Amino acid sequence: MPVPSATSIASRVRLNQGPEIPWLGLGVFQTEPGAVTRNSVAYALEAGYRSVDTAAMYGNEADVGDAIRASKIPRDEVFVTTKLWHTDHGYDSALRAGRVSAQRLGLGAIDLYLIHWPRANSPQDRLDSWRAMTELQREGLCRAIGVSNYTVRHLEELRTHSDVVPAVDQVEFHPFVFNPELLDYCNAHGIRLEAWSPLTRARHMDHPTIAAVAAAHHRTPAQVLIRWGLEHGIIEIPKSTHRERIRENAQVFDFTLSETEVASLDALRGGPRVGLWNPADIP
Ligand SMILES: NC(=O)c1ccc[n+]([C@@H]2O[C@H](COP(=O)([O-])OP(=O)(O)OC[C@H]3O[C@@H](n4cnc5c(N)ncnc54)[C@H](OP(=O)(O)O)[C@@H]3O)[C@@H](O)[C@H]2O)c1
Repeated sequence: MPVPSATSIASRVRLNQGPEIPWLGLGVFQTEPGAVTRNSVAYALEAGYRSVDTAAMYGNEADVGDAIRASKIPRDEVFVTTKLWHTDHGYDSALRAGRVSAQRLGLGAIDLYLIHWPRANSPQDRLDSWRAMTELQREGLCRAIGVSNYTVRHLEELRTHSDVVPAVDQVEFHPFVFNPELLDYCNAHGIRLEAWSPLTRARHMDHPTIAAVAAAHHRTPAQVLIRWGLEHGIIEIPKSTHRERIRENAQVFDFTLSETEVASLDALRGGPRVGLWNPADIP
């Protein structure tokens, strides 16, 4: 359960397709394009983050790329994830969308390219998207490919149609949507789980269970939520636009939670979800 390799902000974990991804990254969903995104990424890089999670749908890929280039940090030290939006499902559309995203980022190869949602016109459509992504990977346009918001059912569909195992499944994952079945499946198949909305979009910061664990460690609720994910071996990508919070969210490698504390947070399982859509409802 504990993740011995997640000992500093520089710690990475190797994905099944080869590249190593940092355990902690900055999310930029709903981060305003332009200066706000560029500043957020700059604050994160300054605080030691070396991973940024964006998406075509967020409208800020170009700003993420600008901020990374402006930092002068060598390109191979920063890990960038972007995603294929569901209006781009299908073989030709996915090929085109991947190329456009890479161009907007302007950083060379995308480190990790994800299918954002399994929402497509048909299961065949998303399988065609996956085929396009394997092609983009073969061409060197992305170093690793994966999925997002896939349930075990969607992952099984993929497994029966492709030899390429997704490197990552990025899903809503925090104590209120703790999903050990998906975690076990991913662990068994070498797929690394990555948590979106690890802070529950700050909706439960004053929950008594979280507050009690935070008080016991003299930490903040945000740090406890991120550490809880790390204890489960999950990659965390909290979002903030504030320099102080971006720093705070990175101070999670110098303490651990006990098994009892982890279990007390696991027990919050049962909702509510942050996301609008429940992936289990997607055929
Ligand atoms: N694949 C997907 O479908 C999907 C869906 C959603 C999100 N994501 C990814 O996951 C990332 C994280 O998820 P998220 O943005 O939905 O939510 P989140 O990281 O759980 O929470 C972000 C919210 O928490 C606030 N916050 C951040 N640090 C805080 C702290 N230390 N104390 C108190 N409040 C704090 C932020 O406000 P300020 O910004 O004002 O600080 C923001 O309102 C996204 O940015 C995106 O990259 C992916």
